[in-house]
Amino acid sequence: MKNISGNPYLKRKNGKVLIDSILLDEIIEQYKTPLLILLENRLRDNIKSFVSIFNEKFENFQSFYSFKANYLPEICKIICSEGIGAKTVSVPELKLALKLGFSPDKILVGAPYLPETLIELSIKSKVREIIIYSIKDLKKVNDIAQKHNHVQNICIRVNSPKYMSKLGIKFDDDKIKLLKKSILAFKNIKLTSILSHFGTQMNNIKQYEKNIKSLVLNLELLSKYDILFESVNLGGGFPEATVIAQNELKKIAEMTKSYFKKSNLQCPMISFEPGRYFVGDSGLYISKIVNVSEDRWIFIDIGNHICPKFARCSLRFYNATQIDKPHKYKTSIAGIVPTDQDVLAKNYFFTQDLREDDNVIVTNTGAYCLTFSNRFPYPLPIIVLINGDKITKIFDPDLNKDFSLN
Ligand SMILES: Cc1ncc(COP(=O)(O)O)c(C=O)c1O
Repeated sequence: MKNISGNPYLKRKNGKVLIDSILLDEIIEQYKTPLLILLENRLRDNIKSFVSIFNEKFENFQSFYSFKANYLPEICKIICSEGIGAKTVSVPELKLALKLGFSPDKILVGAPYLPETLIELSIKSKVREIIIYSIKDLKKVNDIAQKHNHVQNICIRVNSPKYMSKLGIKFDDDKIKLLKKSILAFKNIKLTSILSHFGTQMNNIKQYEKNIKSLVLNLELLSKYDILFESVNLGGGFPEATVIAQNELKKIAEMTKSYFKKSNLQCPMISFEPGRYFVGDSGLYISKIVNVSEDRWIFIDIGNHICPKFARCSLRFYNATQIDKPHKYKTSIAGIVPTDQDVLAKNYFFTQDLREDDNVIVTNTGAYCLTFSNRFPYPLPIIVLINGDKITKIFDPDLNKDFSLN
């Protein structure tokens, strides 16, 4: 049996596709396309490998799943059951994390915009940390914390050294003095962590290195003013687990450790906020060719409304109906949104024979596809969770209407 898309839960066997322990043919008999499949075992494996690689290097290490990658309750529940914390950006996400049983001391809340409702709920729920992107927000948090007679732990998001990066604080002497003044003045906040998130789909170790270097520089600068932290958070940004080799992750862990060793700083608690690495390759679409046109263009029944470019997924396409045929003929793939811009791939290696009604598997669609999706005038896809030979429908647009949080 050969893996498809490097995913051990996606195999081809005698011309058939096996998804975990279920034949795709059986799934297609039961469900119409487009169908989003989520693989519980792959999700669990990704979490375990990530945690074990970083645990090996760091004595004090924690991960907080970035809910925005995929906030389906069934997915977040699985992640919670693996002992991972939650990183949430909004009131609906925070409410969901609390409802699903994430312990408040494993919940981080942070976003460039912190509405009072979000600060208030975070403080009342006693979340581990609120992440602030601007020094001004310290007063907002302090005032609400004071009202609730609470001392709130704070993480500071620093600007990462990336072209055009607008998010987070760029420290200079004036800003450090303002920070120092705020810490002394505000008795209901406590600075505990510092965060630098560099970007998404970081496929080069140099990007991780730039992030760590800048974080260490910030730590050194702030320590001169006696501003110290218990913990550093390096954000997310890892590609799908099938895209980044575990060896690369090990190198990133090693390099991170060596930067702390080289600096005069103690290696504090270290954390990450992965989203895509956990869920990206545990999701795949089953779609269908609905039209074949000139110049080897095929149209499939998903499009940028549910498989958006914004999601930056490493999409891979397979003709499931002709899975054993060579995929070596350049083909362009369009979605069904009625605009020329709905292109999913150009000159992608696919089967020679292009036939209407053939099923197409689109892999690596577990992260950000749903979050960035829009309805256009089409129904949303059915979503199922597969574990071994068990298939559970977790979203049916006819019954559930929408998966948005509110
Ligand atoms: C601050 C922060 N942390 C974590 C993440 C998760 O990123 P990824 O899914 O690429 O790991 C993001 C995504 O944009 C982010 O902005």
